[in-house]
Amino acid sequence: MRELIEKALQAREKAYAPYSKFKVGTALLTKDGKIYTGCNVENVSYPVGICAERTAISKAVADGERNFTAIAIVGSGEDHCMPCGMCRQFMAEFCKGNFDVIVAKSIDDYKIIKMSELLPHTFKMINEE
Ligand code: THU
Repeated sequence: MRELIEKALQAREKAYAPYSKFKVGTALLTKDGKIYTGCNVENVSYPVGICAERTAISKAVADGERNFTAIAIVGSGEDHCMPCGMCRQFMAEFCKGNFDVIVAKSIDDYKIIKMSELLPHTFKMINEE
């Protein structure tokens, strides 16, 4: 937990957010104990930018990982940084109900939210299990 938040804080330093100035860092834990970090990467054409959550998950999936147990997220605001709707949907693809979403402001100030709370009633294809 502590290590995951620390890694997310470090990753936030890499954020490229010249437009919003809102830096986000993430650290994603695989079932086997590996950690993949992410940060937001903005673009002069605003919608092209990517959030820190999707960056970490994409790095991990590109590295062959698909089983995750938790993600730590640190933003820059006064409140805990909650993942946006697009990231919730992106996470739901790989992170099932019991997955822990740790929204942290610091090592000691965090909340843990289950994926099932964050995105209940997820979309499923009719023929999917
Ligand atoms: N952002 C994230 O990286 N993750 C979130 O969960 C919310 C928003 C980024 C997108 C954009 O670069 C900046 O924060 C402001 O919206």
